[in-house]
Amino acid sequence: MPGYEWIGETEKEQINEVLETGILFRYEFKNERKGIYKVKEFEDRFAQFLGSVYAQAVTSGTAALKVALAALGVGPGDEVITQGFTFVATYEAIVEAGAVPVPAEVDETLNMDPADFERKITDKTKAVIPVHMLGSPARIQEIIDIARKHNIRVIEDTAQALGAGVGGKKLGTWGDMGTFSFDFYKTLTTGEGGMVVTNDRELYQRASEYADHGHEHNPDVGRALDGRNFLGFNYRMNELQGAVGLAQLSKLEDMIHRQQQNEALIRETLESCEGITMRQVPEKGKDSYSHVCFFLPSADKAVAFHKNITGKGLSAIYFKENLWHILPKWDHLLNLKTAWPGPHPFGGPLYGKEMTYSRDMLPQTMSILEKLVVIPIFLQMDEDLIRRMVVELQAAAEEIL
Ligand SMILES: Cc1ncc(COP(=O)(O)O)c(C=O)c1O
Repeated sequence: MPGYEWIGETEKEQINEVLETGILFRYEFKNERKGIYKVKEFEDRFAQFLGSVYAQAVTSGTAALKVALAALGVGPGDEVITQGFTFVATYEAIVEAGAVPVPAEVDETLNMDPADFERKITDKTKAVIPVHMLGSPARIQEIIDIARKHNIRVIEDTAQALGAGVGGKKLGTWGDMGTFSFDFYKTLTTGEGGMVVTNDRELYQRASEYADHGHEHNPDVGRALDGRNFLGFNYRMNELQGAVGLAQLSKLEDMIHRQQQNEALIRETLESCEGITMRQVPEKGKDSYSHVCFFLPSADKAVAFHKNITGKGLSAIYFKENLWHILPKWDHLLNLKTAWPGPHPFGGPLYGKEMTYSRDMLPQTMSILEKLVVIPIFLQMDEDLIRRMVVELQAAAEEIL
């Protein structure tokens, strides 16, 4: 699953090229850097890999969401619909933008339920953030069709699904903007890092300005004389991260292929067990094979299955109890706790409404998640381990189903 498993010589060579110049900053120092622009090269190659026109590297996947929201002009008074099953970062970015996150249910794809997205639209909805969870696509075409009908902008949170797609078009390139994370646990890692992609020249320009204190990046003047259109922030990726990103990107296809091989053996075993059903994948959807997600017939059986296999030392996740990925477990959000006092953004004059969250506001999501067990796929799963996993999974199924 994570690119950290394959960190090696290529990363060292790339980093050494940067260290030899001594220039760790992505801009300026034209003479000293001897033509080495790792972040820029990483952006260009990443865009090429995805089939996107523009890419802007940033400091994290959370920053990527924040930059995309800023590029689209989302701010106080706006609502942004996202799903109740995601990493909390999706909500944090919306709140940091000053907007109000509105949760939608997920369906058996484990991603946004398009019908519930449409139900949650109000006259304040400015954007929707479908999250492609655990390596597999949301019903992205349906989500985009609904969004277009209501004049809502689409940001795809693709932090967990780099390389996956639908009908040959990669995730992250379907909406107005796509965001990615390269944190320590992602398929491609730069330690910390992220990317925003878009095909829209103006959105790209706004993203690049917001991520760099508002710098216009006018090639004809130095940074000191650069123009400013609006206040930004610092979300710049540095050259060492760009170097690691380039090294990891050169292995990405191989990493996904290895995941696919490991995933296939585990998935086929589970598919052959009567009583187990697999996560739904939209038509023509292609996974990035980072997780195998499957449902047991009841919550009790899912708990027992999870307990059985983790008790035998296998890695598995029961998301219903996870503190970071499901809204009903986020006490801080349920209590509207932010770093500042007062009701913003959940109330106050700019919003003109009051938003509240509750543990039972996502019944469909919770009834799906209570039956779900997830097995993460690692690059370094060897044949012995996979053979043992197959045996243990079959034994657990026989015992519990
Ligand atoms: C769905 C999702 N969105 C956003 C993020 C945030 O990425 P980062 O950790 O790089 O800030 C993550 C990270 O796990 C994620 O899983």
